[in-house]
Amino acid sequence: MDEKLAAVLDLYHERMRAERSQPRTEVPGGRDGGQDQRMRAIGPDTGQLLNILARSLDKPGILELGTSFGYSGLWLADAARSSGGRLITMELHGYKSAYARDMAGKAGLADYIDHRVGDAVAMIGDLTEPVDFVFVDLWKDLYVPCLEAFYPKLAPGAIIVADNMIRPGTEDVKRYGRAIRAKPGISSVLLPVGTGIEVSRFGAD
Ligand SMILES: C[S@@+](CC[C@H](N)C(=O)[O-])C[C@H]1O[C@@H](n2cnc3c(N)ncnc32)[C@H](O)[C@@H]1O
Repeated sequence: MDEKLAAVLDLYHERMRAERSQPRTEVPGGRDGGQDQRMRAIGPDTGQLLNILARSLDKPGILELGTSFGYSGLWLADAARSSGGRLITMELHGYKSAYARDMAGKAGLADYIDHRVGDAVAMIGDLTEPVDFVFVDLWKDLYVPCLEAFYPKLAPGAIIVADNMIRPGTEDVKRYGRAIRAKPGISSVLLPVGTGIEVSRFGAD
């Protein structure tokens, strides 16, 4: 791995360790009110798998839903760099997106990422380019609305990965699992990596 990227990922790993040793303080509904400093990031195993999958595509248009502070986006942007692709990452909160942009610069990956701030469900609708890879990792009740928004934009052969799929009491993600498997052209598997990921492929064949 590129040294600059490895050094920046290690900064996130330190922050992740600190975060995981703190007690969780959630506001009702999981919303953070725009003050939250928790990264809620995927771990390195999920990051590595995203990287392997995305870099296997040719010049992929990669879409990330839920930038947070930018950890997962670095794994995706590295895949974009190696495959001639580009990452669009969407985040509701400007302060998180700004931090992610700064860290992407430090990792030498800024040229491969387009950071967009706002509601992902609405912003997906504005995309004009075909989507070859999607990473779904925002509030869970938005997984199905996002699926409905990005499904018509998927290019043949597109890969979709959704995080947090194996957790107790998560009816929203179960609903997503059922919804994506019911879509025409989708094949899908649930993998016990990290907090569980649903990996799906869209193709006419
Ligand atoms: C689990 S975190 C993402 C973690 C990130 N993918 C990582 O691994 O580093 C979910 C993020 O989704 C963002 N989010 C929630 N609702 C959103 C929406 N409607 N549009 C865009 N982002 C949203 C939250 O602010 C939060 O930062």
